[in-house]
Amino acid sequence: MSLAKQRKVWTFALLFCSITFTTILFSYTFRDPSLYIFKHAFQLSDSFFSKGPCACRQCIAELEGDPWFAERFNQSIHPLMTRENSILPEETFRWWQWLQAERQPANFSEVVEELFQVIPDEVLYTDASPDRCRTCAVVGNSGNLKGSHYGSLIDSSDFIIRMNQAPRSGFEEDVGTKTTHHVMYPESAIDLDNTTSLVLIPFKTLDLQWIISALTTGTIKQTYVPVMPTIKANKNKVLIYNPAFLKYVYESWLESRGRYPSTGFLSLQFAIHICDEVSVFGFGADQYGNWHHYWEDNHLAGAFRHTGVHDGDYEYNVTLLLADKHKIQMFKGR
Ligand SMILES: *[C@@H]1O[C@H](CO)[C@@H](O)[C@H](O)[C@H]1NC(C)=O
Ligand SMILES: *[C@@H]1O[C@H](CO)[C@@H](O)[C@H](O)[C@H]1NC(C)=O
Ligand SMILES: *[C@@H]1O[C@H](CO)[C@@H](O)[C@H](O)[C@H]1NC(C)=O
Ligand SMILES: *[C@@H]1O[C@H](CO)[C@@H](O)[C@H](O)[C@H]1NC(C)=O
Repeated sequence: MSLAKQRKVWTFALLFCSITFTTILFSYTFRDPSLYIFKHAFQLSDSFFSKGPCACRQCIAELEGDPWFAERFNQSIHPLMTRENSILPEETFRWWQWLQAERQPANFSEVVEELFQVIPDEVLYTDASPDRCRTCAVVGNSGNLKGSHYGSLIDSSDFIIRMNQAPRSGFEEDVGTKTTHHVMYPESAIDLDNTTSLVLIPFKTLDLQWIISALTTGTIKQTYVPVMPTIKANKNKVLIYNPAFLKYVYESWLESRGRYPSTGFLSLQFAIHICDEVSVFGFGADQYGNWHHYWEDNHLAGAFRHTGVHDGDYEYNVTLLLADKHKIQMFKGR
């Protein structure tokens, strides 16, 4: 072998070794950034090669090393209502009924029975496993999405969760084109396409009656304000946010701040409990500190932070803390 050739072989060997070494260090660091690389790099234990709770680079359900998160995160309360979990403990039911102080509510268990004759009664998204990596994008309605060009990034997630009035048409470049889940309540409802799951947050018995009506006869036209009598949505994909989960989010994550959590925060918690990786878009103020919707020009119109019933500041703090702890990834737009 010529000297030049020998040198080439050595260079390649060295390059190969350093790439391998760097890769190991890199992946090791990412699995647990709190560990000191040099203390452990040469004693990669069996646990390094064994699987985590999911197949993503980082898993939300990884509870080790974060007592703050582990104290709050509880996977035993399912985010969605089924016939079976609709029977609420007396205290939970009373709390839920207090939220919008409904006068003369209909018989809850009868309404639930009727509801599940119109929509499917299924247990969904309980398929967490070391082989699953479900990525989710939660898309809030903040004006910080304007000019963000996040559209294709948002569209690349498995689940894309939007809320309330959120339009896509005309804003695709910034907010994306797909929606797998659209979270709403009767007073914030819009028509959906056939491939999107409507996720209804019920705050009163009438809200459950409304979704039954809106998908069938269209007789309910008013709650505390006029509401859409009928809605375009795929009946087979309608999901109901579990009131018990709502209470858990309020107590465990917000320490009972405000009257009840906002749609944004409830959507985020929904994602955290059914996904392995969560990216968050369109939360918080824009670069000028304005709180408005991305489809509104007037920065003062529709300000959604101080709505009275939600503690937006506290919710935002918790959201930022989740990002600090790498449980979610925040995209702050502009
Ligand atoms: C999770 O919630 C269930 C049902 O409310 C409760 O029984 C259990 O103690 C909770 N687990 C933790 C770790 O808080
Ligand atoms: C609601 O309806 C169920 C079944 O018809 C009945 O057993 C129950 O007593 C009713 N509850 C109330 C509070 O009226
Ligand atoms: C919507 O999807 C359902 C199946 O989930 C199908 O039965 C129905 O025909 C579809 N409707 C339209 C308008 O595409
Ligand atoms: C949010 O966090 C900031 C900084 O940590 C703190 O000063 C503020 O009081 C918090 N706000 C609420 C509502 O907890």
